[in-house]
Amino acid sequence: MDFNTIKVQLGESIAWVNLDRQDVRNALNDEMIHELTEVFDWLNSRDDVRVIVLKGNGKAFCAGADLAYMKAMAGFSHAQNIADAEKLSKLFRTIYYCNKAVIVDVHGACIGGANGIIAAADIVIAERETKFAFSEVRLGITPATISPFVVAKIGNAAAKELMLTGRRFTADEAKSFGLVNVVVDESAMIDTERQYIDYFMQASPTAVAECKNLLRMVSGTDDPNNPIFYQTSLLIASQRVSAAGQEGMKAFFEKRKARWIP
Ligand code: COA
Repeated sequence: MDFNTIKVQLGESIAWVNLDRQDVRNALNDEMIHELTEVFDWLNSRDDVRVIVLKGNGKAFCAGADLAYMKAMAGFSHAQNIADAEKLSKLFRTIYYCNKAVIVDVHGACIGGANGIIAAADIVIAERETKFAFSEVRLGITPATISPFVVAKIGNAAAKELMLTGRRFTADEAKSFGLVNVVVDESAMIDTERQYIDYFMQASPTAVAECKNLLRMVSGTDDPNNPIFYQTSLLIASQRVSAAGQEGMKAFFEKRKARWIP
């Protein structure tokens, strides 16, 4: 399969997917959202794939949603805007409901929507210097579509602190919140990834898929059609065209403070 925004490599039982929009720190635009969803659907359907490893090429894992594309939503119809927001929610669901073991390696930065990806995955390995943030409130929007996955992973108290403040936090803090599993130096990333792949190769792939299902069931997140997903799409669709959202994103590109900052 040929992709423009990601690179995909199939090994024996393992698939590597690399985000590849390096100039914008792998920010998620419509094409990348589409390609990632398509590749996860495809890998999920393959019997020869047992583990999917996702990482980012270049300086950072992922800078979250592409703000140029989000800002441009103001020029779209309300219906188009909602349909588009649903695609983002569908991406997180495709990863969360995937039957394969999903490992994510993060480095550099993991911001906004990137945290939806890691919350939807199974194992997250973070390079020690990675910067994390749920920066949405600082942009005049909310972490809407990622919130079901993040809250399921780290709980409401941690989500309140991180999502309401929008502050930066370190990889060690991310581990203490349960957002990442292990924090390592850059030199140990590959060995740690191999270690987790090895754990999954020792487990029955059917049992892994069933165990993922079990964990979704006991945590009450086993319904991929839960109306909450649509509601979060509606929220982000309205927020990104709102006065606050447009001002926040404009301020980011103009490298200035948003108007609400004293
Ligand atoms: N959407 C679109 N473009 C983005 C982007 C995003 N989310 N994040 C970064 N970029 C662009 C920058 O505008 C910049 O473009 P330029 O070279 O034309 O000026 C380029 O990517 C590099 O960004 P820069 O900030 O210079 O890189 P950095 O390595 O110093 O910092 C980040 C990386 C990710 C920490 C920083 O870019 C950042 O905080 N981005 C905003 C992320 C965000 O708030 N996302 C939430 C979306 S809901």
